Amino acid sequence: PVGSDGVVSGSGSIDMKCDFSRINCDGSIKSKINAPKPVTKNGVTTVGGVLIVNKQFSLPEDYGSGLNRSAYSAYLTMKNESGYDMSIISGFRSYEKQKQVYSYWCGRDGEEAASRYSAKPGQSEHQSGLAMDITSLETSYGKTDEGKWLARNCWKYGFIIRYPKDSESVTGYIYEPWHVRYLGKSVAKMVHDSGLSLEEFLGVG
Ligand code: DAL
Ligand code: ZN
Repeated sequence: PVGSDGVVSGSGSIDMKCDFSRINCDGSIKSKINAPKPVTKNGVTTVGGVLIVNKQFSLPEDYGSGLNRSAYSAYLTMKNESGYDMSIISGFRSYEKQKQVYSYWCGRDGEEAASRYSAKPGQSEHQSGLAMDITSLETSYGKTDEGKWLARNCWKYGFIIRYPKDSESVTGYIYEPWHVRYLGKSVAKMVHDSGLSLEEFLGVG
């Protein structure tokens, strides 16, 4: 028996359900979780309660009004405990703002190149209020002490590095060591421990 506090009392055994169709011949696991199906309500898609915004699942034009309070508060704690500056280069971006941003990059680099690092309006996680760009928008940020600290520790505060290296085919975007997504501590830990991108973890990759 497990108490409401999670403490096990008495003795007993736990049955683990095994689904062998998810295990490869060499014993490695094909997919670490059995993700629930995506649910879209009022134009907003969640998977098991986790909001997903990407090239496949967009947000309605009028969605969002600022940075999520819990995300901001978790950011402040992370910044303080890290000892690094960790300034927010960009937090919440409205649909309109994203339209300007995307159009700016398209004008500079052409749409094909821009769409690899900038989201179309409605498709940016920044519109959700759960994403932040920290300190620098250079790939080399990932090699700095601060960038490395962020990658190693952000999950403890409820964040993940949303666009990991070599994941463009799944996330839709090139490596962004500065872009963190707030998921809350328990989900962030699971995603971190899985070693998967958010799309893969949620089974929408
Ligand atoms: N740079 C990310 C993909 C965005 O524009 O939301
Ligand atoms: Zn970003």
